[in-house]
Amino acid sequence: MYNYIDYKEYYGRIMQFGKNKKVPIHRWYPFVEGYSREFIESIISEQTIVPRNCLEPFAGSGTTALELQRMNIECYSFEVNPFMYTLSNAKLKANSYNSATIKKHLKRMLTTISTISDSEVSNISDFSTLVESEGKKKWNLNKPVFLAVEKIILAIEELHSKKYRDIYIVVLANVLLEFGNLYRNGKCLSYKKHWQQNEYTQQEVFDHFSLIIEKTILPDIKTQNKKLNCDNSQKLYLGDSRTLINEKIENSSIDLIITSPPYLNSRDYTDSYMLELKALGYLTNLSDIRKLRSQTLRSHVQLKLENNFQLSNELLSDTVDKLVDASQNGESWNDEIVLMVQAYFDDIKQIFEGMFKKLKKDRMVYFNVSNSAYYGVLINTLDICASIAEDIGFEVIEIREARYLNPSPQQREMVGKLLEGVIVLKK
Ligand SMILES: C[S@@+](CC[C@H](N)C(=O)[O-])C[C@H]1O[C@@H](n2cnc3c(N)ncnc32)[C@H](O)[C@@H]1O
Repeated sequence: MYNYIDYKEYYGRIMQFGKNKKVPIHRWYPFVEGYSREFIESIISEQTIVPRNCLEPFAGSGTTALELQRMNIECYSFEVNPFMYTLSNAKLKANSYNSATIKKHLKRMLTTISTISDSEVSNISDFSTLVESEGKKKWNLNKPVFLAVEKIILAIEELHSKKYRDIYIVVLANVLLEFGNLYRNGKCLSYKKHWQQNEYTQQEVFDHFSLIIEKTILPDIKTQNKKLNCDNSQKLYLGDSRTLINEKIENSSIDLIITSPPYLNSRDYTDSYMLELKALGYLTNLSDIRKLRSQTLRSHVQLKLENNFQLSNELLSDTVDKLVDASQNGESWNDEIVLMVQAYFDDIKQIFEGMFKKLKKDRMVYFNVSNSAYYGVLINTLDICASIAEDIGFEVIEIREARYLNPSPQQREMVGKLLEGVIVLKK
C-alpha cells in the first residue's frame, strides 16, 4: 500500500542508541529507547535546504535537540517524564558548564555530605518497596544506599547555582543504576540476580558519585564548543506534547519534525523509570504516579481506559476487529489490550494533528515507530500511522524499513518478527 524502502543495512549501522554510549554528553545516561545522534545527522544531510528549526514532541534523553544544537539548528522539544526532562536539560546545557565550577561544587558537596548524620536524612518513604526495612521481603535500595542518596540530594540542594544541579542529579541517577537492586529488562524493572547479597557502604556510593563526575562529566565538558549560537535548553518543555505543542509553537512555523513516540508495546515509561522518579524525589505518592501516567501517551494498560474513541480509520478498524476475534478465542479475554490499541492511535492522531498545524507547507516529518502484535494479530503500526497521517492531510512519501524486532516467543510463532521503520511524511 505504501512505498516501503529497505534501509536495514544503512540504519542497522547507524540508528541504535547504543552508538551514543561512547559519544561525549550523549553518553551521560544509558537510555534504551532512544536513537543515535548519527540518525539525526543523516536526516539533516539529506535535506536540500538546511532547516532553521525542528520540532521533537517526544524528547526522551534529548538526542534530537542535542545533535541539532551542535549543528546550530533550533529544536523545540517536549518531554513528559520529569527525570528525562532533567536529563535532556543537563545535556543541552553542557556547553555552558565550567569545569572549575564543577570541581568546586564536588568538593563542596563532599564536605556537606560529611557533616550530615544518618538521623538527619529521612529513612522512610511513602513507597513501601523503595527502601530496606524490617519485615520487607523486597526493596529497591539497601538502607546505606538510600541514606547516601538522600545525603547527596541534600548536598545538591545546598548549592547556590541551580543551573548545575541537573548534572549532579543525572550523575546520581547513574549511581542508582549501579547500587540499586533493580535493572531495566527491556519492558519493565526487575530485581538483579543475587541482589540480596549486595552489601554496599555509604562511602562506596559517595566514591562512585565523585568518580562519574571526574571520569565522564569533566572530560566531556572539555570537548564542548563554547561558542554555539543556539541554546535548545530554552526550547525544551516539560509536559504532555499532545496538548502543549499547541500552546508553545506558532502555526506553520516549523521546518522539520524528527521524532520517535513510545511504541505500542505495553511498556509504561512511568514504570520503567520508577526508580529514578521515586528515589530522586520527582514522585512522592500514588497520586503523582497516576498524574504522570495520565499525561503519557497511552501505549500500556496501566491506566483505566474508557471506550470513547473518536478515531475512524479503516485500517485501524480492521485490526481492532481481528484483535477482538482473536482475544475472544483465546484463554484470557482481556479487553484492556483492545482499548489500549485504540487509545494509542487516538493519541497518535492528536500528535499528527498538532504536527500538521505547526509544520510549514512542503516540509518533512521523520517518524520512527515499530509494528506490534497481540493475540497473534499483527498490529501494522507503520501502515496505520501512515494512513492516519494521510487522513489528516500529509502525503506519505515512503516508509523506511530499519530493522526487525523480536516479539515475545509466543507472538513470534504467529506473526514473525516485527518491523521497525521510519515513516517519511510531507505536508
Ligand atoms: C521513544 S522515547 C524517545 C527517545 C528519543 N528519541 C531519544 O533518542 O532519547 C519516547 C519518549 O516520549 C516520552 N513521552 C511519552 N508520552 C509523552 C507525552 N504525552 N508528551 C511528551 N513526552 C512523552 C516518554 O517519556 C519517552 O521519554
